[in-house]
Amino acid sequence: MSAVKKASRIGIVTAGGDCPGINAAIRGVGKTAILEYGMEVVGISSGFLGLLNQEYTILDENQLSGILTVGGTILGTSRENPFKKGNSILSIDKPKLIRKHYRELGLDALVCIGGNGTMRTAAHLVEEGLNVIGIPKTIDNDVWGTDVSFGFDSALWIATDAIDRLHSTANSHKRIMVIEVMGHHAGWLALYSGIAGGGDVILLPEVKFDIDIVAKCLKKRAINKKPYSIVVVAEGIPTRKGESAGRFIARAIKEKTGLETRETILGYIQRGGTPSPMDRVLGTRFGASAVELIARQRFGLMVNLKGNQISSIPLAEVGGKLRLVPMDLPLLHKTRKMGVCFGDEEN
Ligand code: F6P
Repeated sequence: MSAVKKASRIGIVTAGGDCPGINAAIRGVGKTAILEYGMEVVGISSGFLGLLNQEYTILDENQLSGILTVGGTILGTSRENPFKKGNSILSIDKPKLIRKHYRELGLDALVCIGGNGTMRTAAHLVEEGLNVIGIPKTIDNDVWGTDVSFGFDSALWIATDAIDRLHSTANSHKRIMVIEVMGHHAGWLALYSGIAGGGDVILLPEVKFDIDIVAKCLKKRAINKKPYSIVVVAEGIPTRKGESAGRFIARAIKEKTGLETRETILGYIQRGGTPSPMDRVLGTRFGASAVELIARQRFGLMVNLKGNQISSIPLAEVGGKLRLVPMDLPLLHKTRKMGVCFGDEEN
């Protein structure tokens, strides 16, 4: 039997926008690595910047205690992309520097926790010869190759709570309330919070809407003695240059219906604070599974959730793709039949 070298020193990097549940994943990776496999764990600071600037800390078990419920990332993050082509001819060869620091640090593997941008970077690092495992995180739920990423459930609770709170003030003033939620180019958060919060109109980047249809639907509700309406808008819908999605839609509705309209832009509140129980569990499962792959010397993979099973997919298949709301999603069809207006068809 050939002797296989066991990974003994692993690095963890958290990159891209933060979200609730990252610390649960760091803890899942760290505790499994230390307690189950006797590995040493290096926490890399501020995303890939930490690998470029050699900013690390050795994480012992005590540092991994008490972080499960904490929002954000204890390691810090950045949007540094070492593979982005620089404009300056003086720019350093960042991939080469990362390779050098990875070797100098004595890493046997690197766990990259991040969204689709990070998974693309992770796939490039695999091409550079590094042993990499990806863990998907994002409130947008747009990482290709997994049914869910942690962060989404927590953001969904926050966005739904905000929509719930708009109902009473909308009803008191008989107004139209527009709420803009995050999601980048994907409409998952708007769709799910819109449905969970009883939105009357839900506008997604994936569905080509017509503002006249939206206005017609809102006027019809007013004629039918519905005292108020809730309009949930994804930040990624096309708008007038320089105008936020919420502002753009609220202004257009006011102009086209004459109905009193207000907008709320939820912003970074959706990314902050303690993770939901679901995200804590998912982060823990992803973290532990990532280390199990490393222990089996399986690299170049992203852990994922398919149904309720944790599995993995090659990073090369994930990098550069986006998981968007498909037009044939049964939830779209069913809620449209229940009277939700997506701005593309009159109902
Ligand atoms: O990808 C997560 C996300 O919160 C998006 O929903 C949002 O568009 C973006 O990040 C905001 O990015 P930044 O933190 O760079 O402002």
